[in-house]
Amino acid sequence: MRRAIFPGSFDPPTNGHLDIIKRSQPLFDEMIIAVLNNADKKTMFSVDERCELIREILPTVKNGKCELMVDSFSGLTADFAKRSGATAIVRGIRAVSDYEYELRMALMNRRLEPTIETVFLMAAEEYSYVSSDLMKQVFKLGGRIDGLIPATVESRMREKLAK
Ligand code: PNS
Repeated sequence: MRRAIFPGSFDPPTNGHLDIIKRSQPLFDEMIIAVLNNADKKTMFSVDERCELIREILPTVKNGKCELMVDSFSGLTADFAKRSGATAIVRGIRAVSDYEYELRMALMNRRLEPTIETVFLMAAEEYSYVSSDLMKQVFKLGGRIDGLIPATVESRMREKLAK
């Protein structure tokens, strides 16, 4: 049984994340979308809200038999992967600029857990500039981000800003 984790902050989940989840499914039997609970970082959505948002949008990218699960974790990604019985960590690469950061993480994670491989998937071209931080920034300044994040996420962002 091939189980992977797809770790990230997902604050908020974007169509770029969904694209990676869609592409991963033919490669694995099970995948856990692993939301980092980072108490030091100020996030727009709480870890529970991020998990809930992901659970809501997952059916839109269900692709074949791979079972999709959502969980949160604190601490090291490599430890969470090991605890979960995963053999792979999935990460998306959008552009060359992602590569250096991702390479360092992959090598460190491999040092921490040599049995777990990082699998890089290329995001679709139309999402190559989409990041959660950019989406939040543009949205807060009144710019349009439809088509780049799921509609349900956008409406939740609107509710947050109204508060
Ligand atoms: O979506 P992001 O913010 O790019 O995800 C980064 C993430 C969560 C994968 C990374 O920050 C991470 O793995 N954090 C957990 C702590 C950890 O394991 N750090 C060492 C990584 S080599």
